[in-house]
Amino acid sequence: METVRLTGMAHGGDAVGHLSDGRAVFVGFAIPGEVVHVEVTTDKPRWARARLLEVLEPSADRVAPPCPYYGTCGGCRLQHIAGQRQAQLVGQVVAEQLQRLGGVDNPVVAETVRPADYGYRSRARFAVDRAGRLGFRKAASHDIVAVERCLLLDEATQTAREAAGDRWTGATEVEVRSGVRGAAAIVDVVAKPRGRPALPPGELAVTRRGGGPPLRGDPVVTESVAGMDFRVSPGSFFQANRAGAEALVALVCRAVAAGDRVLDLYAGVGLFARALAAKGAEVTAVEAGAAAATDARHNLSDLPPSSAAVGQDLSSSAAVGSGPARVVRAPVERYLAEAAANGTQADVVVLDPPRRGAGTAVVADLVRVARGTIVYVACDPAALARDARALLAAGWRLTEAVPVDQFAQTAQIEVVATFTPAR
Ligand SMILES: C[S@@+](CC[C@H](N)C(=O)[O-])C[C@H]1O[C@@H](n2cnc3c(N)ncnc32)[C@H](O)[C@@H]1O
Repeated sequence: METVRLTGMAHGGDAVGHLSDGRAVFVGFAIPGEVVHVEVTTDKPRWARARLLEVLEPSADRVAPPCPYYGTCGGCRLQHIAGQRQAQLVGQVVAEQLQRLGGVDNPVVAETVRPADYGYRSRARFAVDRAGRLGFRKAASHDIVAVERCLLLDEATQTAREAAGDRWTGATEVEVRSGVRGAAAIVDVVAKPRGRPALPPGELAVTRRGGGPPLRGDPVVTESVAGMDFRVSPGSFFQANRAGAEALVALVCRAVAAGDRVLDLYAGVGLFARALAAKGAEVTAVEAGAAAATDARHNLSDLPPSSAAVGQDLSSSAAVGSGPARVVRAPVERYLAEAAANGTQADVVVLDPPRRGAGTAVVADLVRVARGTIVYVACDPAALARDARALLAAGWRLTEAVPVDQFAQTAQIEVVATFTPAR
């Protein structure tokens, strides 16, 4: 057993301190500033992981976690910390990642935007245990803890989870989602690839992941963000927190003026593209997923026509739309390589890549196409930091990073970062 004073927070939600031999130690469920007793569970030459045994000097920000599954379920990591302090720690993690992994000196990290503490999720992916019950994986484990009520879900999504029931033997995962209109369960079935999973009683729409006719009802939901409606098909991504999505839209829109030629990369169903076009920008939305690109075309189809959107028409029939927003169904890698090669220029490029980030090849083409501002919406500050390093090397600078703590209680952090040419 060791006594440790915790001094910071690591990406992932563990508090960090030092053992008596000087190695960094990561401790879950502790808070920077606390003095704790720990037992080392993982010993490495330069660092260690330890289990919290006792809090000797508790932080004033320590609160009683409201969820009975907390500590067992791997979803939440921060319920023991008051909301305001979580927001502050999120900002510190973002700054630390940008400095250490991104090589950004004194990054300007704005105050964290935090839309809600609990009851915010409009979708959740449940694992299925051997008895067919829905639950979440335990931390660092494949074991599943059955969860009847998750405090992160909004009311409609908790209702949909209850309607989905706990008789999913044969399924591996069940995603439950709800929109402002419609709710659905999207099921992954591996045990019976061609079989039909037993449906729960009631009317909840059910469909299989990966396409095919719905098993029951209409699994397409309508989402609404900042007064705009979006069709979201079962195979399409949509932000899991409606108020969070609204905050992201507002931050992305700040960088764009009417008349700007804007590229919206990794566009999903057109969340940012629609808001930017409504602001008077000429937008080209690039999305690889078939379902999302089809939804985006639908979601952008009622905008009033105007002149041209960004740059060239991709040779394929994938580019559709001649109004203020058009949708290109293509991998960003291919689209940008072609755009860079034929001299396309955009005033603003918005990118919202998957968790792994954009990568150096995309950044290399991105900086040939972007003229004024790059707005990077990141769901992992570490991936953002790696891409920031490549942007800095290419002569850009980070003007501001705004953490959006839309997954309160968890270690997941969203960031909207703005880059401009350094010259
Ligand atoms: C994090 S989501 C963002 C969607 C959208 N910006 C939003 O906020 O709703 C990332 C999107 O990128 C798409 N995607 C992933 N890899 C891609 C690639 N290489 N090229 C184009 N789109 C990709 C996914 O299908 C998904 O819709």
